[in-house]
Amino acid sequence: MVNACDRSDLNNDEIERANQRTCEILADKAHIAEANTILDWPTGKGCFLRTMLDKVQQDSIIICLDIDFVELASLKAYLDNQGKGSNVYFVDADARDMPFQSNVFDAVTAWGGFIEVPEAPKAVSESYRVLKQGGYFAGDGEVYEENSESIRVAERIGVGYLISRERIENCIADSGFRDIYTESVFEDYDRTEPGPDRCPLPACGDWFGIIVASGRK
Ligand SMILES: C[S@@+](CC[C@H](N)C(=O)[O-])C[C@H]1O[C@@H](n2cnc3c(N)ncnc32)[C@H](O)[C@@H]1O
Repeated sequence: MVNACDRSDLNNDEIERANQRTCEILADKAHIAEANTILDWPTGKGCFLRTMLDKVQQDSIIICLDIDFVELASLKAYLDNQGKGSNVYFVDADARDMPFQSNVFDAVTAWGGFIEVPEAPKAVSESYRVLKQGGYFAGDGEVYEENSESIRVAERIGVGYLISRERIENCIADSGFRDIYTESVFEDYDRTEPGPDRCPLPACGDWFGIIVASGRK
């Protein structure tokens, strides 16, 4: 999978451009510049969060949610070290069952959320619940062709819910969002060699893409 913020992890310039473009679209479509309360899930290493910090209002509050405490603690240490993130709070929780009241956030972002979280539709549905009426959701994920080996692998390892553009669009609509927008920011064929250390997705030689999708509550 191609989501990675450490430049050394990036395969080529095109993927780096796609990551930057993804961050721009997410920030724009989630309207983070106008938001007072923002939820980001799954925050992970904070690749997207780091790009967000300069774009939000100074008095806005950003909640970072991830199920991995170590990732959140490492990100907090990184931000502390940089003298950044005084408006950032960390919540170690499951995105499929968020520990927040309904209707509290102006914006919800999910960079990599469609494929990285098992049963991602539950997390999209939770995003809808915790957003205020009129609030914006934007996320992205890697997608594959229906009936491909990649789809079969993704389903076998438990991340096969939001792995095509159609599945993402349907999920966002089924969650209740309106003004749904999707954009393809990258597509290519896998060129990696088979091997035991290889990431299982995409399957060797398969077509894959990255889709950004957004909606409004
Ligand atoms: C590739 S990272 C996400 C990238 C991140 N948004 C960024 O900007 O760097 C995937 C993250 O999903 C988290 N995750 C997986 N399942 C989750 C769940 N059910 N709830 C919350 N986080 C989850 C993992 O702990 C991991 O940190």
